[in-house]
Amino acid sequence: MPNVEKIALITGASSGIGAALSRNLCEKGYRCILAARSSEKLEKLAQSLRNDGFNCSVVIVDVSSESSVDALFEASAKIGHVSLVINNAGLGIFSKIEESSVDDWDAQINVNLRGAFLVSRKFIPSMQSQKSGILVFMNSVAGNFGYPYSAAYVASKFGLRGLSDSLRNELRKDSIKVISVHPGAINTSFWDDINVDFPREEMLAPEAIASSVVHAIDAPDATVIENLTIRRVGGDF
Ligand SMILES: NC(=O)c1ccc[n+]([C@@H]2O[C@H](COP(=O)([O-])OP(=O)(O)OC[C@H]3O[C@@H](n4cnc5c(N)ncnc54)[C@H](OP(=O)(O)O)[C@@H]3O)[C@@H](O)[C@H]2O)c1
Repeated sequence: MPNVEKIALITGASSGIGAALSRNLCEKGYRCILAARSSEKLEKLAQSLRNDGFNCSVVIVDVSSESSVDALFEASAKIGHVSLVINNAGLGIFSKIEESSVDDWDAQINVNLRGAFLVSRKFIPSMQSQKSGILVFMNSVAGNFGYPYSAAYVASKFGLRGLSDSLRNELRKDSIKVISVHPGAINTSFWDDINVDFPREEMLAPEAIASSVVHAIDAPDATVIENLTIRRVGGDF
């Protein structure tokens, strides 16, 4: 059998979990398409991956924009068939409900939920024609439980769980696996502008999330790890 190149798309690859996952997937033999808005950060990651002998490409995208996601799809199709999509781009803005702005609500819903919809719907048809493929949704413990001061973030992640559950059942007939990942707090720049006193050094490491996700991706052909909850042994903060 010819050695077909495996291609993965990672949104939100410019930092945190996305960057850690990109490296881990490269190590697993994937050619990675690194996608996010920050070209400088993406190019820096790509350079470090290439220096280590890995194959990757950078595509600038705003996942909340339909035309930008369409352009991402066109650029990816030129690279080859994407068999693994990691919907990871996301943000959190935390505030009391009475102090929450409509712009903050829209930003979280549009990136965390609409973005995953826009990206998935473009990449699913070629997976269907291949009767294989994997979609990963970077959710959160906030996709399972409500937290105070987190209404929009929690709403976006509950919505994302609904999207991934529905797609999982819709796409079983096409042998496409859908993996929903629900981590607790991870030490990434997600927390840089958030005013909480969680000790950053006690949070989960992005590399630990990446290795658990890759383990789920690696499940045998007829098997899917559908939901992955990853927490600190000591529990949430
Ligand atoms: N950190 C945590 O505690 C935690 C816990 C559970 C789940 N999560 C989830 O994990 C995912 C990754 O977060 P992280 O912790 O790695 O945070 P991070 O370091 O802040 O990374 C977020 C990534 O999303 C990208 N992004 C944001 N808006 C985007 C947009 N409009 N279009 C394209 N890319 C966009 C950012 O890139 P650009 O700014 O370059 O666009 C960045 O690469 C998120 O979905 C988050 O909800 C995080």
